[in-house]
Amino acid sequence: MRIHLVSGACGFVGRNMVKRLVKTTNDKIFMIDDLSIGRHPSEWLEGFNSKMQGDLEILDKEERLYFWKGDFRNLLFYMRENPRFIQEKYGIEFERFADVFHFAAIVGGRMKIEGDPMIVALDLSIDAEFFYWITQHKPERVLYPSSSAAYPISLQTTEAAIALSEGDIDFKKNLGTPDMTYGWSKLTGEFLAQIAAKHYGVPVACIRPFSGYGEDQEQSYPVPAIAARAAKKEDPFEVWGSGKQGRDFVHIDDVLDFIFLLLDNVNDGSAYNIGSGRLTSFLELIEVFSDIAGYKPEIKPLLDKPVGVHSRYANMDLVDKTFGWKPKISLREGMTRVYNAQLKNL
Ligand SMILES: NC(=O)c1ccc[n+]([C@@H]2O[C@H](COP(=O)([O-])OP(=O)(O)OC[C@H]3O[C@@H](n4cnc5c(N)ncnc54)[C@H](O)[C@@H]3O)[C@@H](O)[C@H]2O)c1
Repeated sequence: MRIHLVSGACGFVGRNMVKRLVKTTNDKIFMIDDLSIGRHPSEWLEGFNSKMQGDLEILDKEERLYFWKGDFRNLLFYMRENPRFIQEKYGIEFERFADVFHFAAIVGGRMKIEGDPMIVALDLSIDAEFFYWITQHKPERVLYPSSSAAYPISLQTTEAAIALSEGDIDFKKNLGTPDMTYGWSKLTGEFLAQIAAKHYGVPVACIRPFSGYGEDQEQSYPVPAIAARAAKKEDPFEVWGSGKQGRDFVHIDDVLDFIFLLLDNVNDGSAYNIGSGRLTSFLELIEVFSDIAGYKPEIKPLLDKPVGVHSRYANMDLVDKTFGWKPKISLREGMTRVYNAQLKNL
């Protein structure tokens, strides 16, 4: 029996990953989330009955999906004390997890990254326990989501912005300063991933997603928030900062495709960009959404809002050269999907 583990399973990336695994495999899935941000599986997984076995929720009669609600660090601690904790406590028989997707993290948008940096720093403790556990448990394969926030912020200023390449982070040379505590925790996570792979022989692949977005993302993120306001035909249209700051938007379906490609091909802990390779300013994003909505609003800059670095976008050449892979969903197509999803919520 194959069983995968998805931490942070009820968050944006986790939910999409669980739904993908349900659709494309017959394997079991062990989901973990403390629901601090995430939504309970009953809200986004259709057609599954659920029953409780102690504090574990079992979804569906074939016992294919399990949901453990709580702080992942607690479970990691229980498994540190007893490596067969899950097997013994819940009577699930398996030797080791197959694929482990580690999405549990304190993320939030710019407001949280800049407004409450110390809570975001707790990611260091989640990741440290996680990486220790994988070196003991030795799952078949591990996916660690780093972030484009790990790149040096000096390469993302108004004057010096460049398309960020994987080699701009080199653990043997100067690393630069990543973006706030969030970026530091991701950079540390990548370092631990390499140690887990090279020193302990655990197959790990890392992704550096740029701005992932999708239909069911929380409203605290810019893409769904801007889409919702365009759907309501906001005018004047408020933008954080001047709106000239830019990001690289990539649809979640492309992110998931890339994750599986990477797991099949990378096991040494190295990290690859996942972005579109295109810089889109927030002004352009508003233009795309207002065009989809069929109106032309006046723009109202909100200069007191946090905007982060000026320009952050990916150089996708290494990914193209190494794997012959490019994202499939264009900005227009992806944003149309998000817009249509927001229209339904009106
Ligand atoms: N979405 C993106 O574009 C993007 C970009 C770069 C990196 N990432 C990384 O991908 C991962 C997932 O991101 P996301 O967008 O799905 O974020 P998210 O906030 O939607 O999901 C994180 C999930 O983890 C849960 N969680 C937080 N702390 C926990 C804990 N201690 N124990 C158990 N569960 C906990 C939350 O409830 C939430 O459901 C994160 O590591 C994030 O840094 C995402």
